[in-house]
Order: sequence, then structure tokens, then C-alpha cells
Amino acid sequence: MKKYLCSITLLLTFVLIGKSQTSLVTKKGTDKKWWKEAIVYQIYPRSFKDSDGDGVGDLKGIISQLDYIKSLGVNAVWLNPIYSSPNDDNGYDVSDYRNIMKDFGTMADFDLLLKGLHQRGIKLVMDFVLNHSSDEHEWFKQSKSSRTSPYRDYYHWWDAERVKPNYRYSLFDVNHDAWKYDSTTNSFYLHYFSRKQPDLNWENPKLRKEIYDIMKFWADKGIDGYRLDAFQFAAKDTSFPAFPKGFEKNFVPYYAMGPHLHDYLKEMNQEVFSKYDVMTVAEGAGNNFQDAHDLVDADRMELNMAYAFDAIDLAKMEGYDFMKFKGTFTKWDSVFEKEGWLSIFLASHDQARIVNRFGNASPEYRDLSSKMLSTFLLTMRGTPYIYNGDELAMTNAGFQKISDFRDMPTLNEYQYQLNHGADMDKFMKRIEFESRDNARTPFQWDASKNAGFSTGNPWIQVGANYKAINRAAQENDPQSVLNYFRKLTALRKKYPAFVYGKYTLLDKSNTAIYAYTRELNDKKFLVLLNFSDHIAKANTGIKISNAEIVLANYSKQLNNGDLQPYEAVIYQLR
Ligand code: GLC
Repeated sequence: MKKYLCSITLLLTFVLIGKSQTSLVTKKGTDKKWWKEAIVYQIYPRSFKDSDGDGVGDLKGIISQLDYIKSLGVNAVWLNPIYSSPNDDNGYDVSDYRNIMKDFGTMADFDLLLKGLHQRGIKLVMDFVLNHSSDEHEWFKQSKSSRTSPYRDYYHWWDAERVKPNYRYSLFDVNHDAWKYDSTTNSFYLHYFSRKQPDLNWENPKLRKEIYDIMKFWADKGIDGYRLDAFQFAAKDTSFPAFPKGFEKNFVPYYAMGPHLHDYLKEMNQEVFSKYDVMTVAEGAGNNFQDAHDLVDADRMELNMAYAFDAIDLAKMEGYDFMKFKGTFTKWDSVFEKEGWLSIFLASHDQARIVNRFGNASPEYRDLSSKMLSTFLLTMRGTPYIYNGDELAMTNAGFQKISDFRDMPTLNEYQYQLNHGADMDKFMKRIEFESRDNARTPFQWDASKNAGFSTGNPWIQVGANYKAINRAAQENDPQSVLNYFRKLTALRKKYPAFVYGKYTLLDKSNTAIYAYTRELNDKKFLVLLNFSDHIAKANTGIKISNAEIVLANYSKQLNNGDLQPYEAVIYQLR
């Protein structure tokens, strides 16, 4: 669970994007594509903007803020699931893949949202939860009704009169047990996530066909991309062999990249992706670089990109290993330099806030470190994903009581730890730092009641610091985190070197500074980032005396070239 809370822990008004993409299509990973040039803004709909005062964000709320989204300079939006759902896992438990969750609005609202985004040159990537459905999905209701139901094989069942099924770890279950007994048919069903999230049986071609039809339904509506939730876990060895004792401590190698996963993705590509101009990204990149290449290399005809957790998982309550951080990003860049494509992200709805995890959330350094981290995300090769609120440097929630938390796996794990006599103070400290709820507090729009998120009672408490950190306060301040973020997106769109350019790590052994160059044709940039709270010297060997500063998070640089705490500078070299 700990591991997963960390590990679960998505595009252009660019001139290029509007142009014919087909003219650019060839097979190599280095070719130009709109989704490579995308800057993805992830919106957590439940917490973004509530239009009707019920305390839950909704589609009309997002529609009301389309001009704000456009003003950020992003060119794609990834929306967390908005389909009908009983909300056991905030929409990651889908009960009808062709309808909109009541809390969020109607299909008419969705159509308006999509139109509004497209009118502003912004693409829409939808989240597809295809490893599992809700137990309230009609398929599951039918499936559990009888052993002879035509839907029985849409899920994984194990008849209870057989020898007990081998243990499978559930990431979200209060007992960590992925087999749930159901008396209706005297059988167990499999759920890698919660009991209300039964795993779909991808081995069944009928199920696969239904899913592809659903995916086409949304593509026909005009969406621009698919984020495949937890898909690396979808393929199973249905004989459910025994795994070594204790495998749950490091379960990903046992659950990811199961038999035929690539066959399913190739089939999905053929049936769906190949018919539309869509971006495709998987959550999880397998167990090694070869797995990752096999998922995303263009000639494989599977996906465009995946996102790996290697770097994001480094952040722990105690801090993170900066040298590993640099090493991880550098290694991933080199492995994907010629073939395939990367996602660049350090935050999502599954992790606590970026500024708490990789920056410094103290009032002194919060804005500086947030700007520095955004500089990193927007100057690396790969498609960057920015989680809503990070453009304002929103921080962790500061929840201290278990009753403040809403996240189902957090609450189930609390119960599990309690049942097993764990040190609960220690557990509370851990979730205070790393619970997913930290990133799910309402978006801080202004200093009014509930941060302007809702006129009602928010489903989760508003961050205590909303009067200091909010969009309205930052809007007219030229030095704000928000306005700095806008400069970064403009820069990335102006210079293709930041998207496609060669990345070279400099001053590798520097324990405070991340220094690198990005270069394409006649354009070369030097990026200097101080990840520490002290002054540090960069030894890049590059003369910056006649270089031009294109963006910096301090108004003045030190005369001797040292970098100030959390300083970020982008130089254009001549
Ligand atoms: C993914 C989602 C996460 C969800 C889980 C189960 O990891 O990002 O939010 O809880 O899958 O669907």
C-alpha cells in the first residue's frame, strides 16, 4: 500500500498542431507529433470548480474557467474520470462508461466542455479505467447473478468449492486480500483495487470488443486522447499461480505486463487508435526499459507514451535522493533519445503536492521552489504533465485527523494498520505527508469563502492557506508563480529545442544543482536549477558572460555566478 500510495501515487494551439499531422508521420520516435508538443494540464474535476453549490466540482464549473485554462498556455487537458460512478474511488469505479457522473453534470455539459476546449485550441485527453469496473456496473451485476450468466467471464471468478485461490494482494482492500467471496454463486471474484472495483477479464474477446466500442464512442464524440488507467495490470495469468511469499511488498513485477498485454494493446490500436488522431498514454511503464520501449516505440503500434514512477517515487517523508533524481531523468532521456517518447511529471491526483515533495513549502521558499520545479518540468524532453493547482504552488492539506481524510485507500489502510496493532502516530504522520487527499483539496480561486470553489459545503476541506495562495491574488502580480508558469509555457511553445532538442546533463556530481543543456539546430539553452535551500555553485564549464537570460525566478543573479536557494535560470547560449 505504501508503495502504491506513492506510485499511484495527460494538447496545441501551436502553429504546428493545427497543420496536417499526416505530412509529418513517419515511424521514428524523433518525428514531430502534436502530442509530443503538448503541455498537459491535469484537472481533477471533483475539486476544480463547483457551479451548483453542492460542494462537488463539476463540468459546468470547468466550463466557467476555460479562459483561465487557456491563459495558462497549456494545450491539452487530461480529465480524471467523469463517467457514472458510485464514487468508491472518486470515479475510478465506473458503473456506465457511456454516461456522465450525476455529480459532474450531463452529456450536454460534456459536449459543451469539449467544444469550448476545442474552440480555444486545447485538446482533451480522457481517463479510461479499463483494468476494472465498478461492482455496480451492469456487467458485474449480471456476472455475479449466476455461474452461467453470459457476463460471467467478463470478470475473474473462482468457484469456492475448488482449492482456495492463491493469494493476491489488493492495493486498496482493508484486508489486502484481492479475492472477495460472494455468496450468490459461492465464488470469489478478483479485485486488485477495492472490493467495489472488480477486475475485468481481458482474456475474454467479448469484453475486449465491448471496451473498444466504448473507446470509439468517445473518439466519435471528438476526444483527442486516452489515458489508460492501471492498464499494465490488465492482463492476467488466469490459472492464478502462486507467487512467492511476501511478493506484495514489491508486487508490480508480478502484476504488470501479464501474458498477452501487448496483444491487447496492438488489438486496441488496430481497432481504435489507428482510426483517429489521438494521443495515448499508459499509467505505468512496465518493469524495465525494454518493457517501456515495447509499449511506446512507434513501430510497435501500441501506445504513444507511458509514464514511469521511478522518479516520482523517490520522494519520501524524510526527503529524496537528489542524485538519484538527476540520474533517473537522465537515464530515461538517454534510453528514449532515438526511439519512443517520455512523459515528464512529478505530480498527479495520486501524490501529495509537488512543492511539498520536491520543493520547499515554507513561506520563504514556496514560490521560488515551485517556479524552479515548473522550470524543470517545462524544459525537459518528453510531454510535460502539470497537475491543477501546481501553477499556483498549492501545498499539502495539512490534515491531521483521520476524519479529515476522504480517500478510500487511505481510510482502508488506516483500518488495516489499526487492526494489525501498528504505531498509529507514525501512520498518521505518513498520510499527513503522502495521502492522495493532499492534492485533492479544492482549487484555490480567491480569498472568499471556500476559496471561491463552492458556495456550498466542499466535499473535502479547503487548504488552510487559501487566503495567501489563490489565483486572484496571483493574477495581477507580475512576479507570481502563476505568471511565471505562463512565461514557461510560452517559452516551450516558442522554442522546439525544449521539446525535441538534445538533452545533456552537466556538472553531474553536483549535489545541489541540476544543470543541463537543450539544443536543436542553431538554438542552445542552458538550464540551471538549484534544488537546495542554500547558495551553490554550478560547474558547467560553459561561459555565461555573453549568454542571454530568457527566464529566471530571481530578479537578480549573484555577481559570482553562484545560484541562490531554489534559483532557476534559463540562458540562451550564443
Ligand atoms: C490509478 C489512478 C488512481 C486509482 C487507481 C484505481 O492508479 O490514478 O487514482 O485509484 O488507478 O483505478
